[in-house]
Amino acid sequence: MTTTIAVAGKGGVGKTTVAAMAIKYLAKSGRGAILAIDADPSSNLNMVLGLDLTWTVGEIREDMLSKVKESITAAGAAMGGLPDGVSKREYLDYEVRSSLSEGIDFDLIAMGRGEGPGCYCAVNHNLREVIDGIADHYRYVVVDNEAGMEHLSRRTTRDVQHLLIVSDPTQRGIVAAGRIAGFRNELDINIENAYLIINRLPAGEMPPALRKAVDALDVPLLGTIPETHDITEFEFSGRPLVAMNDDSPVYQAIAAMLEKIL
Ligand SMILES: Nc1ncnc2c1ncn2[C@@H]1O[C@H](COP(=O)(O)OP(=O)(O)O)[C@@H](O)[C@H]1O
Ligand SMILES: [Mg+2]
Repeated sequence: MTTTIAVAGKGGVGKTTVAAMAIKYLAKSGRGAILAIDADPSSNLNMVLGLDLTWTVGEIREDMLSKVKESITAAGAAMGGLPDGVSKREYLDYEVRSSLSEGIDFDLIAMGRGEGPGCYCAVNHNLREVIDGIADHYRYVVVDNEAGMEHLSRRTTRDVQHLLIVSDPTQRGIVAAGRIAGFRNELDINIENAYLIINRLPAGEMPPALRKAVDALDVPLLGTIPETHDITEFEFSGRPLVAMNDDSPVYQAIAAMLEKIL
């Protein structure tokens, strides 16, 4: 069985950082094959994981659609188009599998840019099934999402076992996290557990006013992550975050949270 962990939250709160540290934890604890899905066109999860990216799913979709269009407009000639006898579904399956970035400890699929304004429903339906078929071969799938929640169900048909909602340590952040948590019941995918993670907490105890707001949410607080400078050093140089020391407070905090829920 595949366990899917999805990371959500508003922009800049630390979703990609949490996803990277979760992947590091899963890899280190040798729990089985891991697939990372970068579902945020602007997150560059591959850099954080130290993997090269060849093609995104969005590029594969656009390329296939333009090939199909070419073959239709090429006046019956067998120019462009998909190879003879290959269905769109087979083509997408082959291309997405070839686009997989393979690391030593984990693999990565990047979704790339979202659907354009045209209706690509059939293609996207095929793509969802293709990606879910690939994901089935992994023990763990970690999805780094775009800000907000509405994209999650367009990307996958699979159940999410653990939704990690990341917030900054502010009242406004907690309100936004609560709103995201509320969305989870409106999606057409099943989310089994949802948790709140507060990131970048300044040293010391959680301020009582913040604690009160957290207690009022209907998602439990899984843990807090301290504000640290070692992560900033990595970001300055662009070194992959997964290469951070195991004793880094950010890694330690996230490892302890996953230990609790897995
Ligand atoms: N605990 C932390 N301490 C210090 N900086 C952090 C921490 N968590 C995240 N950051 C920094 O905040 C920025 C946004 O983090 P990121 O994970 O990219 O957010 P998101 O994916 O939600 O947009 C990054 O520059 C990251 O290095
Ligand atoms: Mg991100």
